Amino acid sequence: MRIIPLCQSVVQFVIVRVYMSINIQQHIGDSLKTAFGSVLNIDPNEIDPVVRRAQNPEIADFQANGAMGLGKKHGHDPKELAEKIVAVVDFGTFADKPEVAGPGFINIRINNETITTLVEEMDCENLGVEPDRDTHAVAIDLCGVNVAKQLHVGHLRSTIIGDSIARMYERVGRTVYRENHLGDWGLPIAMVLEQLLSSGTNLDTLELNDLNTAYKNAQLVAKDELRGEKAAKNLQSGPHRFIEIEEQNASALEAQAAAKTVLNALQQGDKKLLADWQKLIDCTMGSVYKSLDLLHVKVGAENNRGESFYRDRLSGVVESFVSSGLGEEDGGAIVVRFKDRERPVLIQKSDGGFLYATTDLAAIRFRTNELKADRVIYVVDARQRDHFKDIFDAARLISWNQTPDGTEAELVHVPFGSVLGDDNKPLKTRSGSNVTLDSLLHEAIERGTSEVIKRSKEPNSPTSKMSDEELKTIGRQIGIGAIKYADLSNDLVRDYVFDMNRMVAFEGNTGPYIQYACARISSLIRKGGEQAGAKLVIEEPQERILALKLLQYNNVLHDSIKYLEPHRLCTWLYELTDAFSAFYQSCPVLKLEDELTKQSRLRLANLTRRVIVDGLDMLGIEAPEQM
Ligand code: ARG
Repeated sequence: MRIIPLCQSVVQFVIVRVYMSINIQQHIGDSLKTAFGSVLNIDPNEIDPVVRRAQNPEIADFQANGAMGLGKKHGHDPKELAEKIVAVVDFGTFADKPEVAGPGFINIRINNETITTLVEEMDCENLGVEPDRDTHAVAIDLCGVNVAKQLHVGHLRSTIIGDSIARMYERVGRTVYRENHLGDWGLPIAMVLEQLLSSGTNLDTLELNDLNTAYKNAQLVAKDELRGEKAAKNLQSGPHRFIEIEEQNASALEAQAAAKTVLNALQQGDKKLLADWQKLIDCTMGSVYKSLDLLHVKVGAENNRGESFYRDRLSGVVESFVSSGLGEEDGGAIVVRFKDRERPVLIQKSDGGFLYATTDLAAIRFRTNELKADRVIYVVDARQRDHFKDIFDAARLISWNQTPDGTEAELVHVPFGSVLGDDNKPLKTRSGSNVTLDSLLHEAIERGTSEVIKRSKEPNSPTSKMSDEELKTIGRQIGIGAIKYADLSNDLVRDYVFDMNRMVAFEGNTGPYIQYACARISSLIRKGGEQAGAKLVIEEPQERILALKLLQYNNVLHDSIKYLEPHRLCTWLYELTDAFSAFYQSCPVLKLEDELTKQSRLRLANLTRRVIVDGLDMLGIEAPEQM
């Protein structure tokens, strides 16, 4: 006797799992495809029933406009075709019989009971988010600061976007490696170190500014050589010509000789020099960590795996390419050539030195083979597009895009655009220098804080009794949330204008708008309770719209991950917030006399709040309970 109810509950559980993975719109579309297929006697897979959200939610939830085009194409009157579809289509429990409107539109209304059941199922700990079926790790290359240089706005974008993608993956159960591929090795660093040592700078009291100055001086020394290299690149000359030009710049190279000696000694493991080199890193990273802390990202010292980590693997990289016949000699250098383009990738210079590309090839090998990642994601400035195309293709040639179990690993560059100033040019300070990350963050925090303080002084403000310390915390959450949301809510590859006023506004498609709406729901719940066990009743048009929106959560999240587009999640959260506002405007809650409806609406509101908090968390944005 006991076994039966147990089985039933297992069956119920299985049905629920199937339900949760269903995208309502897709389900409607699939049922229509089958109907069109049978009426027109063609393969359902070739049919697009053109399902859209309906304009007027009072009439329908979805509208299918496919009968128009398909009728014309197959010689049917669209309206008659639509009538036939309506007669045969089977939506299961999702919708009742649809209706035909106008010249052949099919109006579909989702069944209230189905909506209620689905929302009830979603109202559990994981909010209906399904774990990813792929269990391999994911490696995300983010931040990528360079030692001896300040973090700039590009590193800000890489960190914010990379951390958000990492959070989304973690949310669906994947193991994520956030890889901070620091620029901490090679000639530029050796030049800085050489400059500092030869000028007698005390490395123990080093400040970032000293490092920046040394870096600039080192760049000046390298300028001549760089000019030569640039000319070679502009002429699209092969590496042979490139090397010749390098040699012509003998004087600049001479100036670098000392730095090369330093690099050599570092490479040989000179203890004293390595300790000095570490001081440069500590000095740079000390200031970087402060910014990362403010940014509320899960990136810290544990994520450092910079270029130096791969230094002993570089000759192995070149050997592998050479021994497999993929690396060939060209004027003393080693290059890898591709069938579809002239530009080869240089992996070893004629003087034996290795390059940025060589290190990145070692990193790909490490990430797929040792971290066992089957998706390696590079969140790097769009200007490095060619570099990534080259190293990904080179890795594929040598089959390094494979995890040890033979799974093909996807290597993806997520390029992002520049941050522009009011003048539509890359963001600069008034004096023309690059804007540092720190100055931006502090400005945003100040703006957030003054807004919170202003609001706390208004009568009946929920924050009126808060201490300065508490207000400051909220101000920081708002300021940082504003910057992050503005950064993530655009198509990543597009340049965007950094407009602080718009970012911190409490209205419009901004982080603070969503945070504020969420804080208002929190206050509603504080007054009315969570009502977790209440029976849901979803009937009113705005209730239905909110519920249908909530039900998209799992799909929106999985799509944001699949396409690596956090802006999908942003847009959806904004729409969800709007749907909640509309619901709250037209459906009274606390004032209601009918206790059951009140409880149901509180439960729906609380579910919405939890989803917003969860969604914001994946954008790395905190949700203050009061604002
Ligand atoms: N340090 C580089 C830069 O500032 C970014 C590193 C990107 N990551 C990589 N694996 N190449 O341009």
